[in-house]
Amino acid sequence: MGKPTVFVTRRLPGGAIDLLHQHTDLRLWEEELPPPREALLRQAAACHGLLTLLTDRLDAELLASAPNLVVVSNMATGFDNIDLAAASERSVLVTRTPGILSETVADFTFALLLAAARRIPEADRYVRAGRWKTWGPSVLLGRDVYGATLGIVGMGGVGTEVAKRAHGFGMRIVYHSRSRRPALERRYGMTYLPLNELLRQSDFVTLHVPLSAETRRLIGRRELRLMKETAILVNTGRGPLVDRAALYEALKSGQIASAALDVTDPEPLSPDDPLLSLENLVIAPHIASASLATRAHMAMLAAENLLAALGGRIPKHAANREIAQAWRTARRRRLTSLA
Ligand code: GLV
Repeated sequence: MGKPTVFVTRRLPGGAIDLLHQHTDLRLWEEELPPPREALLRQAAACHGLLTLLTDRLDAELLASAPNLVVVSNMATGFDNIDLAAASERSVLVTRTPGILSETVADFTFALLLAAARRIPEADRYVRAGRWKTWGPSVLLGRDVYGATLGIVGMGGVGTEVAKRAHGFGMRIVYHSRSRRPALERRYGMTYLPLNELLRQSDFVTLHVPLSAETRRLIGRRELRLMKETAILVNTGRGPLVDRAALYEALKSGQIASAALDVTDPEPLSPDDPLLSLENLVIAPHIASASLATRAHMAMLAAENLLAALGGRIPKHAANREIAQAWRTARRRRLTSLA
């Protein structure tokens, strides 16, 4: 049997591409920007495996036009770019790269939280603009992080690592999550709260839930109104968790103090988006997991997930686990017939 055909939608850091070269008939999209829709459709129609990024939209139409497709390995912990139900319907296994990026993303979440609290980007602009004339008792006053209340929304891998850091910073931690985490509550002295109450009590609110139909616009006009006027919103989850227009209004009118965003809706944000005119916004281009080591690790895990699936093994990180077992038998049959 020949090697399976695989399409990778961008060049990747670390050794993942070399590994895939050894074991597959590899097609690599070498451009800086993601493959356009037609290119993705064409490759999906021809390949057994796809290694995708969160910038690639895999919807029902694309999955329907990919008769040989066995596995989609997404190099991300989130998989809201993939229609999971459509993939399951076609017995296509979807895998992801959870766990290994939680600490790196939590570090970055704290970097944003501190940057907004202590106004670091504003301070940088202030010095570069030649406005630093003297030490001043009231220059660029920020907010203390230690002793403040942090509201964590979503207590999965990243939320847990954020809690660990917040504990070290001497913060009071409240959280909201689909399920209670009693062991973590004891370890970090955390209190579980309904979302509305968390929003009312928190000095900082940070979002770590996956994007789904239920969590889209989780933070809208009503929720922003519940927050303190001194509160800071941090989002390293997904842009559509927050209603962008409502956030702009809340920041502009002083409804909340500031926001720190690594993710926006849409991405990229247009350079003339009104949000970017605000001093009380700290922003980054979706780079929370972007450390050298973590991105190389994510790429390698995505390659390993892909190869495992193509080799008839069920990868550890199946997003549609419920079909993984049934898929295994069907996949073997399909690849054998291609030999
Ligand atoms: C990044 O945003 C990821 O989901 O891994």
